[in-house]
Amino acid sequence: MSAGSAGGAGPVRVAVVGLGWVAREVWLPRLLGGPAFRVVAVVEPSEQARAAALGDLAGVSALERVEDLRRDEVDLAVVAVPNHLHAPVACGLLRRGIPVFLEKPLCLGSAEAAALADAERAGGAVLLGGSAARHRADVRALREVAASLGALRHVDVSWVRSRGIPDRGGWFTNRTRSGGGALVDLGWHLLDTARVLLRGATGDPEGAELEHVTGAVSADFVNDHAFRAAWRGDGAPVDPVVGDVEDTARGFLVTRSGISIGVRAAWASHQALDTTVVRVEGSGGTAELRCTFGFSPNREGPSRLLLTTDGRTTPVELPVEPVGAEYDAQLASLPARLADPAARGEAASGARWIAGAIERVYRAADTVRCAERRHAPVDLVPTGAPR
Ligand SMILES: NC(=O)c1ccc[n+]([C@@H]2O[C@H](COP(=O)([O-])OP(=O)(O)OC[C@H]3O[C@@H](n4cnc5c(N)ncnc54)[C@H](O)[C@@H]3O)[C@@H](O)[C@H]2O)c1
Repeated sequence: MSAGSAGGAGPVRVAVVGLGWVAREVWLPRLLGGPAFRVVAVVEPSEQARAAALGDLAGVSALERVEDLRRDEVDLAVVAVPNHLHAPVACGLLRRGIPVFLEKPLCLGSAEAAALADAERAGGAVLLGGSAARHRADVRALREVAASLGALRHVDVSWVRSRGIPDRGGWFTNRTRSGGGALVDLGWHLLDTARVLLRGATGDPEGAELEHVTGAVSADFVNDHAFRAAWRGDGAPVDPVVGDVEDTARGFLVTRSGISIGVRAAWASHQALDTTVVRVEGSGGTAELRCTFGFSPNREGPSRLLLTTDGRTTPVELPVEPVGAEYDAQLASLPARLADPAARGEAASGARWIAGAIERVYRAADTVRCAERRHAPVDLVPTGAPR
């Protein structure tokens, strides 16, 4: 890597691959907003999206194809393309020796997780994964409290939105391109959070492997425009919109060491607010965090963390953070992660666990639905997932 690369003098030279909502609203403003990064290239097949972004980006090369990115010109590619392209685009970059920060979900299924690990090894460049929730101050506080709860027994993670189905009938609700619905989209954050809590508790990667997984999915809202995520500004609905993914998923997982995990992800519901709950049950007590992950405006009030032991529930004081602070924190951590040899393999290993869990929830849901197939409006198992 040249001067300016991770761990060296000067800013990390970044290429942003995919100029959609998250690149425009989350990553570019942050990358451009400080001295740690310099955006040197953008890659986007849509001419309109390229032109719109370049208005704000002087001296940045705008490419149509990721293959045209030059290894010697970038230190990091920030990849924010539709889900089905995550693993193929990231593998191509990694094999060419270009480090990648890959948005969640890192991959669709365990076969793609293995491909990411192979590409990282083959190219000798690190893969860093989008995992914003663990950078939240309230989640960090929960982890600290969880460490005082004795033996970990159960983690419950749930994120239920009021009206938050992304896009206007494009790739998010198309199973071939998204890999699934709310479980892939919101569930990735939830399972990443659960995994961080598990690892803190077991310290034994083997013990965190999943022994049992079951689940159920439903799609009561996905084709109703009234339940779209208006804050994304995805524009007018494309008619007719026929999504073939779930809007709600519920899973129950048990690790080899006997810890259980409940997961519930819903893009839409009858609730008024978007609510995230992370609950940790240990042999010595319970801690529950109530907040709202992400950027939606239908938020719970300030995050609340409650600790219950011996029949007494007490609030734990939390630092107040602005919406989106976890994305600032995640970005701030990237230069050190890029330079850290211990970061190699970590994202791919997490992706294997999370993608494997998602795959198995879908498979369990599909098994249950087989008997009722004639009533099922859609087939919810992602393409390529073993049945
Ligand atoms: N971490 C988070 O909180 C968060 C939030 C939103 C989205 N995301 C993730 O970011 C990714 C993008 O989401 P979005 O909402 O920005 O989607 P989007 O559809 O708005 O943007 C995707 C962009 O990628 C472009 N693209 C398609 N193929 C490409 C290719 N081969 N090379 C370069 N660009 C290509 C598209 O033209 C589009 O502009 C998704 O995987 C999503 O899950 C993460």
